[in-house]
Amino acid sequence: MRYLTFALAKGRLAEQTMELLEAVGITCMEMKEKTRKLIFVNEEQKLKFFLAKASDVPTYVEYGVADIGVVGKDTLLEEKRNLYEVLNLGFGTCKMAVAGPTSMKEKLKQGHSLQVATKYPAIATDYFYHKKQQTVEIIKLNGSVELAPIVGLSDVIVDIVETGKTLKENGLTVLEEITPISARMVVNRVSMKIEHERIKTLIDEIRQQL
Ligand code: PRP
Repeated sequence: MRYLTFALAKGRLAEQTMELLEAVGITCMEMKEKTRKLIFVNEEQKLKFFLAKASDVPTYVEYGVADIGVVGKDTLLEEKRNLYEVLNLGFGTCKMAVAGPTSMKEKLKQGHSLQVATKYPAIATDYFYHKKQQTVEIIKLNGSVELAPIVGLSDVIVDIVETGKTLKENGLTVLEEITPISARMVVNRVSMKIEHERIKTLIDEIRQQL
């Protein structure tokens, strides 16, 4: 039997995924240890697990080095890889939103040409250009995006809002909601055919747990 390989977004998402997999009888003792390793194997069940940066998970799955991936919907929308999205796992819930100082709410509504800072340029482009038909300037950042409107780099941001604490503590608010986000299971298109029975059984078992 060949290995079935999972690419997981390292951190909290991977931990929650392993808890869910344990509930359907899939375990990996090695992963519970405090380690910097990136690949883990369960020889008895012929399973492998990669821990990857979230934004790289769809890439590992599209290229087929991993059969299955678990990653946030935000990453899937941003990376636009050719994959099957098979399950909404229901955890890692948050929302993608346009945020900024309340003074921007009217300008945003009136369709002004604003500067938008974001870690998600594809999502921001889809939202403003395709959904709202609004011309904006998108400024790509890599983190702590809330800083941008405070220091005058941008008018608003497009970012993940989970508890809303980061926005609140920086004097910003949600101005428009773009889409709800949660963890999704994705499958490589070829793996879905060649490992159909194994993957289908797994999806069915997980679905029953949700
Ligand atoms: C994320 C996101 C927000 C924050 C939202 O950032 O980009 O900044 O969490 O969470 P909250 O609504 O619960 O405050 P992350 O912690 O991943 O760091 P980063 O901005 O440096 O990427």
